[in-house]
Amino acid sequence: MWGCRWLLALLALGASAPGGAEEGLRFPSHDGAPRVVSVTALNHREALRSSAVLALLLHRPGGARSEREERVLELAAQVLEDKGVGFGLVDAEKEADTAQKLGKGGGHHGNPYGVLEDPVEFIEGDHELHAFENIEEDPKVIGYFEGEESENFKAFSAAAAEFHPYIPFFATFDPKVARKLTLKLNEIDFYEPFMEEPLTLLTQPHGREEIARFVEEHKRATLRKLKPESMYETWEDDMEGIHIVAFAEEDDPDGFEFLEILKQVARDNTENPKLSIIWIDPEDFPLLIPFWEKTFGIDLSRPQIGVVNVTDADSVWLPMADENDLPDAAELDAWIGAVLEGEVSTESDDGH
Ligand SMILES: *[C@@H]1O[C@H](CO)[C@@H](O)[C@H](O)[C@H]1NC(C)=O
Repeated sequence: MWGCRWLLALLALGASAPGGAEEGLRFPSHDGAPRVVSVTALNHREALRSSAVLALLLHRPGGARSEREERVLELAAQVLEDKGVGFGLVDAEKEADTAQKLGKGGGHHGNPYGVLEDPVEFIEGDHELHAFENIEEDPKVIGYFEGEESENFKAFSAAAAEFHPYIPFFATFDPKVARKLTLKLNEIDFYEPFMEEPLTLLTQPHGREEIARFVEEHKRATLRKLKPESMYETWEDDMEGIHIVAFAEEDDPDGFEFLEILKQVARDNTENPKLSIIWIDPEDFPLLIPFWEKTFGIDLSRPQIGVVNVTDADSVWLPMADENDLPDAAELDAWIGAVLEGEVSTESDDGH
């Protein structure tokens, strides 16, 4: 799915917003016209001719794509249509020959890029374990199983397909890796972004539905980063009509410091299911910076945290005199508490 992420990143960075706008963040929205084609032996030549560049996504049979994923692909196809980029889906099993032909660049005009989706990644050895541990910004799910043939693993893999590619699923069959992660056989752990301690799915054995329910229940994280490839999903999942939004540039010293404080406050409040803070690194969305500064009346060259009403984009921001006036953890915690209590609200400043 990296191909799709890459394209969506492009979309977030480079595309202006055509048509319907999402209040507050103004993302482009899908116009409803289907553009992504199912590529088969019969139509692959035609598909290749139809655009200068054809992005192909190989998908596994039965690996049902979620509605969200489809929407994101359609949106990418819509925005990149003018740039001559088309999108095709190839069934990796039913159309194995076609997939192979296209993968070898056997087309006449288009330049296909194939991306094979796999909903579960395997962790073997210290190197991969280290890479797994370094994933901080994304939620992650990991299970320890006997092997690929185990029924428990199959259920895990089926659940993974439902969340792919938004929530990465990992599995290990290696007892040493499992020990380091303190996983017992058939145990499944969910890590929220930025959290050091996982949540464990306790009841056993787990069916697909049970695993999916567990992930669904915990996927709204206390602190989550707004990412181009999942920005709609994140923005739509609001806290009763509002979002707590923190702008902080990770590569900037003040932004970094503010983010560390924010992570600490999030860890202290992770038991609160009502709280979810969206972190936006303005560097990820350079073309939206002027728009956000104007809409919210803030200066994004330094960290900001505020409450945004998703209906009318009305907002209030934590007062900070300048970049030397960052709140400490206690102040930030108190401010967030006041937001949750409704004491700080977009409606309390005479309606603007
Ligand atoms: C958001 O704004 C709308 C429209 O102004 C208002 O009706 C609603 O109460 C606000 N929501 C919150 C949670 O403040």
